[in-house]
Amino acid sequence: MNKRAIRDSFDRAAASYDSVAGLQRQVCELLDAVLPAPTFASSILDAGCGTGYGLSLLAKRWPAARLIAADFAHGMLKSTAGERVCADIEALPFPADSFDLYWSSLSIQWCDTHRAIAEAARVISPGGTLAISSLGVGTLAELHTAFADADHHRHVLEFSPDQALADACTAAGLQNVKLETRSIRRYHPDLKTLLRALKSLGANQVGTNRRPGLLGRRVWQDVEARYESLREADGLPATYEVILCTASS
Ligand SMILES: C[S@@+](CC[C@H](N)C(=O)[O-])C[C@H]1O[C@@H](n2cnc3c(N)ncnc32)[C@H](O)[C@@H]1O
Repeated sequence: MNKRAIRDSFDRAAASYDSVAGLQRQVCELLDAVLPAPTFASSILDAGCGTGYGLSLLAKRWPAARLIAADFAHGMLKSTAGERVCADIEALPFPADSFDLYWSSLSIQWCDTHRAIAEAARVISPGGTLAISSLGVGTLAELHTAFADADHHRHVLEFSPDQALADACTAAGLQNVKLETRSIRRYHPDLKTLLRALKSLGANQVGTNRRPGLLGRRVWQDVEARYESLREADGLPATYEVILCTASS
C-alpha cells in the first residue's frame, strides 16, 4: 500500500466526506453498541478519527473523559473538535499505557494490521479496552465482479479475512478477543455515483496494482453492463462485510 497516496486521498476528501459517510456513521453506531461498557474511561483515543463522528458518540458516553483524535490526514483533523494529533496509527506518538479505551472505526483496513494492532496494544493501559471496526473479504464484491475481466489492474482494496484481525490482537497480547461480522448492503442509482462516493470518501486508493489511467470506452461499457446485471429494486447493491472487534488489555 502506498501510504502517502492513501493519506493524500483522505486529505483531499475531508470536505466531501460527511456528505457520503452514511455507512461509516452506521458502523460507528454498531461498534458503540458492541463496546463493553467499562465503568471508567478517563482517556480515550480515536485512531483514524476522520471528521470525528466516532468522537461525538464517545463524548456522549464518557462526557468527563479526555478524548484524543488522531489521524494522518490534516484535512480530516481540521474538521474535528478538541484535542487533535496528526499521526500514523502504525507508529503512535504516545507513551505505553496512555489510554483506557482505544477506538478505531474503518481505518485499520488501510494499515498493516499487525503493526497497527501492536501499537494499539502498546498504548492501552492494563485493564483497558480495544474497539475496532474494519472491512472483510467480500466487501464491494459486486464492484470486484464488475471489473473482473476488464483488465489486469486492481479496482477494489484487498480486504483481510476476519480472523486476521483476531490473530493480530492475540499476537499483540490482548485478551478476551471478540469478533462479530455484519453484512450491510447500500444501494446506488448507478455505477458512476458509487465510484464518485468512494472518491468523495477518500476511499479510492486500492494498492500497488492500480490502473494508471482511465478505462477505454468499450471496457467501461462492459463493466457498467456487468454491474447493471446485479440491479435490484432499490438500485445497484454494494455489500460491506463489517467486522466489529473488541478485546481487553
Ligand atoms: C474511512 S475513514 C474513517 C474515519 C472515521 N473513523 C469514521 O468512522 O468516520 C478512514 C480514516 O483513517 C485515516 N487513516 C488511514 N490510515 C491511517 C494511518 N496509517 N494513520 C492515521 N490515520 C489513518 C484516514 O485518513 C481516514 O480519516
